[in-house]
Amino acid sequence: MVRLQKFLAAAGVASRRKAEELIRQGKVTVNGRRAVLGTKVQPHKDIVKVEGKVVAPEEKVYLILYKPRGVVTTRRDPQGRQTVMDLIGNIGAVVHPVGRLDYDTEGLLLLTNDGDLTYKLTHPRFEIDKTYQVLVKGQPTEEDLESIRQGLLLEDGWTAPARVSLLKGGRGKSWLEMTIHEGRNRQVRRMWAKLGYPVLKLRRTKFAFLTLGRLKPGDYRHLTRTEVKKLQALVR
Ligand code: URA
Repeated sequence: MVRLQKFLAAAGVASRRKAEELIRQGKVTVNGRRAVLGTKVQPHKDIVKVEGKVVAPEEKVYLILYKPRGVVTTRRDPQGRQTVMDLIGNIGAVVHPVGRLDYDTEGLLLLTNDGDLTYKLTHPRFEIDKTYQVLVKGQPTEEDLESIRQGLLLEDGWTAPARVSLLKGGRGKSWLEMTIHEGRNRQVRRMWAKLGYPVLKLRRTKFAFLTLGRLKPGDYRHLTRTEVKKLQALVR
């Protein structure tokens, strides 16, 4: 059950405050009865009308995008650079990124118009795992990997324990895979920089259980209903 004004706002009828006004003015009915402030509804079950017109509940949209390098993770860029929205185009819903990837980072980005799920997936309490492949300059020692595993002191405090393993080393560069559950600004780059290994390439390959699969840079797909349910279960 959701509050009627929230339902109306999500459906794009009006802001929450304006929706409250409509309810107070007696312009909203639920299943044929005039609603009052405090009325709750079941979207997809109750029939809500504003001034006699049926209001369709907002459809929730969930996408994963393979964000390429050189694209900003915002809805609009003041500098006019390409944004993740340009890649998605018009999908009939206003989606927002769940967290962000740096301009130079590529990989898996989840986007949705489900504000509640976005809030929870990015809340530190739920410790959602994010996995990255990282190309660094140099060859980290086992001791360095251990520091990543234990936690490092950055300007904004200690990092939580992380998982890391060497994928491929050689010629002064190394590919590593690491999994963190925090989402601090430029965290992966800052962790490696702190140990003296500049990050040359950064790719997010996993968000919770979601992987890039066959997506190519610039591609996106809608999540399946099962995937959405699984994500919701992670933050219940
Ligand atoms: N960590 C970073 O440093 N950059 C990203 O884009 C994501 C995680």
